[in-house]
Amino acid sequence: MIGGGYVGLVSGTCFAEFGTDVAIVETNPDRLAALREGRIPIYEPGLDRLVAENVEAGRLTFGDDIAAAVKGADAVFVAVGTPSRRGDGQADTSYVYAAVEQVARVAEGYTLIVTKSTVPVGTGREIARIVHATRPDLDFDVASNPEFLREGNAIVDFMKPDRVIIGIDQSKPGGTERAQNILRKLYRPLYLLERPIVFTGLETAELIKYAANSFLAMKITFINEISDLCEKVGADVNDVARSIGLDGRIGKKFLHPSPGFGGSCFPKDTRALTAIGRNAGSPVRLIETTVAVNELRMKAMGERVIALAGGDVKGLTVGVLGLTFKPETDDMREAASIVVLDQLDKAGAKIRAFDPAGMETARPVLPKGVTYCKDALDAATGADILVVLTEWNEFRSLSPEKLKARMTGRKVADLRNIWDPESLKEAGFDYISLGRPDVVHTA
Ligand code: NAD
Ligand code: UDX
Repeated sequence: MIGGGYVGLVSGTCFAEFGTDVAIVETNPDRLAALREGRIPIYEPGLDRLVAENVEAGRLTFGDDIAAAVKGADAVFVAVGTPSRRGDGQADTSYVYAAVEQVARVAEGYTLIVTKSTVPVGTGREIARIVHATRPDLDFDVASNPEFLREGNAIVDFMKPDRVIIGIDQSKPGGTERAQNILRKLYRPLYLLERPIVFTGLETAELIKYAANSFLAMKITFINEISDLCEKVGADVNDVARSIGLDGRIGKKFLHPSPGFGGSCFPKDTRALTAIGRNAGSPVRLIETTVAVNELRMKAMGERVIALAGGDVKGLTVGVLGLTFKPETDDMREAASIVVLDQLDKAGAKIRAFDPAGMETARPVLPKGVTYCKDALDAATGADILVVLTEWNEFRSLSPEKLKARMTGRKVADLRNIWDPESLKEAGFDYISLGRPDVVHTA
């Protein structure tokens, strides 16, 4: 497994748990040192125990020696990053190609190279070209096996996936069967659990990943726009989402309004799909719009907080609950908090923030002036306004009376709808949330 980040570490550990011997290669010295010392460099519930058990059982090892890991391997998975390229939004495949070249140089005997990273359509073919150019003598196949795990629920998502997608170059005589057999064997426990495993072509597998993520991002963006509409017409988005979701064709998941989708996947993958569509002469206009609407939404959230303050936050203290792009992760990549806190900071607010897992990852990407607090009530202390940006469960149970005792002001912007407007109203707060009637006390 080349790359020991969120995907490489979780997939590698889960394959080991399935009974396979896995060598994870990681070049980041801090991450590698942590893994070797038995520490997990990312926050992912349950991963520490699973890693420890598989290391103990001798099925899972960590190192930076690619030759040692690749030697004798039946399959080599590439799980390195594919971040957005600045400017055109295309996925940057340079880490993938660099890893593949390294693999090709040291591979011995038949080698199956599998992309777990999310890669643009055509990457598999380019990998085959690079491997052939690097090692014309090497017997190899290329497969695409995109990963659908969600951070925070990654182990369950990997062990009990809705489906596994495997793309193999179907034009290569003989290659398909050998590669298929290796991947079938690796995923054997999922056959026993009767999880669907779809075998398809390389390009199709690559596109499936972008289509899936973009559809989900579009679904969220749809409910976010309906949420705005609810506010204008006096409707309740929770009831709208629940009711449309009861139609099995729509489905109830991914219909929670939010300050905008973030994370390491949806923003970059929607941008990449629009680039793939434009380059292929077949623009995916719904996703182009999704990208634009989501960017505007994050900015609109900061403006909402400023409007709640009466149009000016200069000198005011804003308490912020939640920084990560969603709960149960420490990941700050493209979190809405980055956009919102930047606006509040530029407008002169004093920001007191708390996140249960993201305090360390947040520091480098948030404005310098942010004060990091020891818990939620500490963040609320002396706040004129309290803003909820991530729906961590521990925030749900905070009582309005306790918040009131700590805060100086009486204004709450709940941008994840974690609280009941009635209880905030009873406690005397001015309370805004998403797609539900505002509670505003007039003096
Ligand atoms: P990440 O940045 O957490 O991990 C990538 C790791 O690869 C890093 O630790 C980096 O040091 C290492 N690396 C880079 N080049 C290397 C090399 N040549 N040899 C060894 N190690 C190397 O990224 P991630 O979140 O795990 O994402 C990886 C890929 O999986 C991306 O394409 C992403 O789109 C996709 N993906 C991510 C998720 C998710 O939830 N994070 C879910 C599905 C798919
Ligand atoms: C996503 C995909 O779900 C996963 O299949 C893929 O492999 C990687 O990308 P992840 O980024 O970990 O997973 O988180 P996810 O739970 O999908 O949330 C992404 C963003 O959408 C978060 O910012 C979240 O707050 C937001 N979201 C999600 C909403 O705003 N509303 C919802 O109803 C669901």
